[in-house]
Amino acid sequence: MQKSILILGACGQIGTELTLALRELYGNEQVVASDIREGTDSLMNSGPFELLDATNYEAIEDVIMYHEIEEVYLMAAMLSATAEKFPERAWNLNMNSLFNVLNLAKEKKIEKLFWPSSIAVFGPNTPKDNTPQSTIMEPSTVYGISKQSGERWCSYYYHKFGVDVRSVRYPGLISWKTLPGGGTTDYAIEIYHAALEKASYTCFLNEDVKLPMMFMDDAIRATIKLMDCNPEKISVRSSYNLAAMSFSPADISASIKKHIPNFKVSYSPDFRQGIAETWPSSIDDSKAKEDWGWESKFNLENTTVEMLKHLPSQSH
Ligand code: SER
Repeated sequence: MQKSILILGACGQIGTELTLALRELYGNEQVVASDIREGTDSLMNSGPFELLDATNYEAIEDVIMYHEIEEVYLMAAMLSATAEKFPERAWNLNMNSLFNVLNLAKEKKIEKLFWPSSIAVFGPNTPKDNTPQSTIMEPSTVYGISKQSGERWCSYYYHKFGVDVRSVRYPGLISWKTLPGGGTTDYAIEIYHAALEKASYTCFLNEDVKLPMMFMDDAIRATIKLMDCNPEKISVRSSYNLAAMSFSPADISASIKKHIPNFKVSYSPDFRQGIAETWPSSIDDSKAKEDWGWESKFNLENTTVEMLKHLPSQSH
């Protein structure tokens, strides 16, 4: 099926891989990448690119009209650790970009919209284990507050204006193609780079803080599956819980040590430990399984194998 797609924030950790996957599926020319900066060679050279600020409504509208876009994926956001340093900038970026695309969909300029939420919507009073789809949230970070508000707005635009917006609460995402930026779960990527480069790593979280995580291939597959799904099957219009695995820094170091036996990890927790402590340890994603057949493929062991196989070929 031919459809034209725009990705906002295409040069980030998720956007890069999502763009490449969508181009593979729908054809390079059908998938327009956009960001406020240029991205990797493979992204820039494989299809159309527009320099675009996700907070600029008119600029997005122009690109949508010019390329006759039907679907938008909004992947631009300021993540949890950076947002604590720049609360107002984070709020403005995370919320204004969302309002822009929700309003474009409300005005029928686009047909369908994907917007990512996060495990950061949960807070210190949320049940930590097997966190349910619907539960106490009360996020205590700037990023979490923006994501929870975003979820309420998505649900509102769906019920009030019939906007076809779809969303998942991504766990921490592990990938090798593009570096993450400013997240609390970034340690789970840094650790692989450090293991390969110097066989040692100082972790900014404590060894026992267990968080929900996912390998990028699973995250991309989930995103595309949800966007492909028949709208009648989607019973959650805020955001779906999504899960694959849960582990602590101690678990991931043990998994790397099986491949690099002399790997040493020390712990020097900073403010990100405080953020991690408020997030769930594991997530109940039965609603996503039930509604649109979600199933993860990667656990910690095969994620480690993939990361150690692909990272050496990346230039840093
Ligand atoms: N991985 C993100 C972060 O750590 C959570 O969505 O900020």
